[in-house]
Amino acid sequence: MSRPPPWTVRPATADDIEAFEAVRIATWKACFRGIVSDEFLDGLTLPPHRIQRCRDVIEDTAGSAVLVARAGDRFIGMGMAEPASDACLESDVGEIRALYVHPDWQGRGVGRALLGALTKALRARGYRAAVLWTLRDLPPTRRFYEATGWDFDGAEGTHDWHGLVHLVRYARDLSEPS
Ligand SMILES: CC(C)(COP(=O)(O)OP(=O)(O)OC[C@H]1O[C@@H](n2cnc3c(N)ncnc32)[C@H](O)[C@@H]1OP(=O)(O)O)[C@@H](O)C(=O)NCCC(=O)NCCS
Repeated sequence: MSRPPPWTVRPATADDIEAFEAVRIATWKACFRGIVSDEFLDGLTLPPHRIQRCRDVIEDTAGSAVLVARAGDRFIGMGMAEPASDACLESDVGEIRALYVHPDWQGRGVGRALLGALTKALRARGYRAAVLWTLRDLPPTRRFYEATGWDFDGAEGTHDWHGLVHLVRYARDLSEPS
């Protein structure tokens, strides 16, 4: 019998916000350097409006899901799924809005577990399909999504994080199991 992984995934509570946001910020700083400007990365903090936004998403249990991965008492990953932000998409399309695994824990299956649980949560909330935006120039993350059942759907965009960053959209049908 294979041993269970040394970490667990569970829904987040409001008490987890500072810890899981610290994982998100550490991951941005470690993994996005060279693509996102140093000025933006070095200035990343957790402002009150972001804490409030996380609280609102956690409370929207009918339409959203926020999950954390923990190893012992350490937070090692987080993910958020919400209704799709693009008003052009149908209301039954959900979106993975965040997925981060602390650099010390990447490559051990935590991201796959979080993403599987997020897609399951979206399906349970009635979404038919899901999208996500990721960095165009980050091949490891693009390979991760391609290995977990997502396809680039042709949509591209930019975001200004103290310098333009190119984004690409991935999509998947939720009628198939994860
Ligand atoms: C992308 C990320 C969430 C993946 O999480 P992870 O825990 O490192 O990935 P896993 O170990 O669960 O890998 C899952 C699968 O993807 C594959 N994969 C992961 N990283 C890969 C890479 N760099 N190249 C190729 N395949 C990769 C794994 O081989 C694995 O396949 P398998 O289960 O068949 O062996 C994580 O690396 C991360 O936080 N990256 C930086 C932040 C980021 O880009 N987040 C996404 C923002 S949109």
